[in-house]
Amino acid sequence: MSEVHIRTMAERDLPEVLELALLANPHVAKETYKEHIASVLEEHPDLSFVAVLNEHVIGYVQAQFHGVMAVIEDIAVDEKFQGKGVGEKLLREELHALRRRNVKFVFAEVHYKCASAIPFYYKFGFRICGFQQDYFGVGHDAIILKLEL
Ligand SMILES: CC(C)(COP(=O)(O)OP(=O)(O)OC[C@H]1O[C@@H](n2cnc3c(N)ncnc32)[C@H](O)[C@@H]1OP(=O)(O)O)[C@@H](O)C(=O)NCCC(=O)NCCS
Repeated sequence: MSEVHIRTMAERDLPEVLELALLANPHVAKETYKEHIASVLEEHPDLSFVAVLNEHVIGYVQAQFHGVMAVIEDIAVDEKFQGKGVGEKLLREELHALRRRNVKFVFAEVHYKCASAIPFYYKFGFRICGFQQDYFGVGHDAIILKLEL
């Protein structure tokens, strides 16, 4: 997958990103989530990245930060391209960008249905630090992971 490259997200990427977003957010309605992705992009354009293959977006990651704390909003890779190192490239780029902003603690809030992504986060040193019932809405619990940069 060496031909995959990572670049910052642009507004024109939003339709493709939105398709991938549902992989990481099984609880959301597509149209309302589009606004969320767009607002994170607007607020932190330098912390939103896409993985591109043959001019198509096959993965994305977004984060927000406040002071020394950051949250990985979402990370998702097209199912056809999972397990080929794309997610790793995206998260490395994101963590690099957060380090440059002197972020010290990074959190990830994972929907319980996405629990299979937890070993992925562990590869980077994240550890489970808690959980929160109904975090994403009633019945939509979150597993909280934390990384000290
Ligand atoms: C989680 C996700 C982003 C990982 O992306 P990916 O491109 O498949 O991951 P990579 O191929 O870069 O894997 C990187 C490392 O993590 C490990 N890993 C990835 N997914 C894993 C899984 N489900 N179980 C165990 N290890 C996993 C890989 O084995 C790899 O380690 P290795 O280099 O030692 O083999 C992707 O599977 C995905 O989009 N899942 C659905 C959305 C989601 O759940 N997002 C997370 C919640 S926000």
